[in-house]
Amino acid sequence: MTQWHWDPETYLQNMLAEVPSYPDLQEHTAATAKGVPARTILELGIGTGETAKRVLADHPDARLTAIDSSEEMLERAHTVVPEAELTLARLEDPLPDGPFDLVVSALAVHHLDGPGKQDLFRRIAAVLEPGGTFVLADVVVPDREEDVVTPIDGVYDTPDRLDDQLGWLRDAGLDPETVWSYKDLAVVRATRPQRPG
Ligand SMILES: C[S@@+](CC[C@H](N)C(=O)[O-])C[C@H]1O[C@@H](n2cnc3c(N)ncnc32)[C@H](O)[C@@H]1O
Repeated sequence: MTQWHWDPETYLQNMLAEVPSYPDLQEHTAATAKGVPARTILELGIGTGETAKRVLADHPDARLTAIDSSEEMLERAHTVVPEAELTLARLEDPLPDGPFDLVVSALAVHHLDGPGKQDLFRRIAAVLEPGGTFVLADVVVPDREEDVVTPIDGVYDTPDRLDDQLGWLRDAGLDPETVWSYKDLAVVRATRPQRPG
């Protein structure tokens, strides 16, 4: 995922070429989100709306709020999910006001370094409703070198190990569970307890 400038025209074609399991990742993300009763959804890094359209198909009455740091990608997303509230913002910025029943992020959080991910997970926990769920789908550093499949530039792409991220999600007060992983991709469901543990 070596794009520094996101081009909505070539985005999907590039992703399918660079991330062979991209469709599987999206399907497992949507399937995980489907199990969450949600009227309010926040997506972080909506891109062209590939994740959002799948999630909204299962939550047709939900209100989607989403951010992305690329104006061009947001313009494309607007054509895909016209009812959504889309904001040009970075993951590092204060998150939109919650609370949200569901927060989703696919292939965006790995652009933050370790401390940045830890900080984001704490802020996500703070905007989730008690009982709400964060679905994280992303590229991770796999245990086995031969499972590195996704192109990573090490500068703009800074994935971390799945175990480390599960620990950071627990530190943020969430209960994480890996629902799918394949080579260097993973989908995690992390639920905010109804009451702090
Ligand atoms: C690989 S795309 C993922 C889009 C969509 N979720 C999908 O799976 O197709 C990553 C998106 O994250 C956005 N992005 C990257 N770094 C970001 C940051 N620090 N803050 C907000 N958005 C960011 C990019 O602009 C891009 O649209």
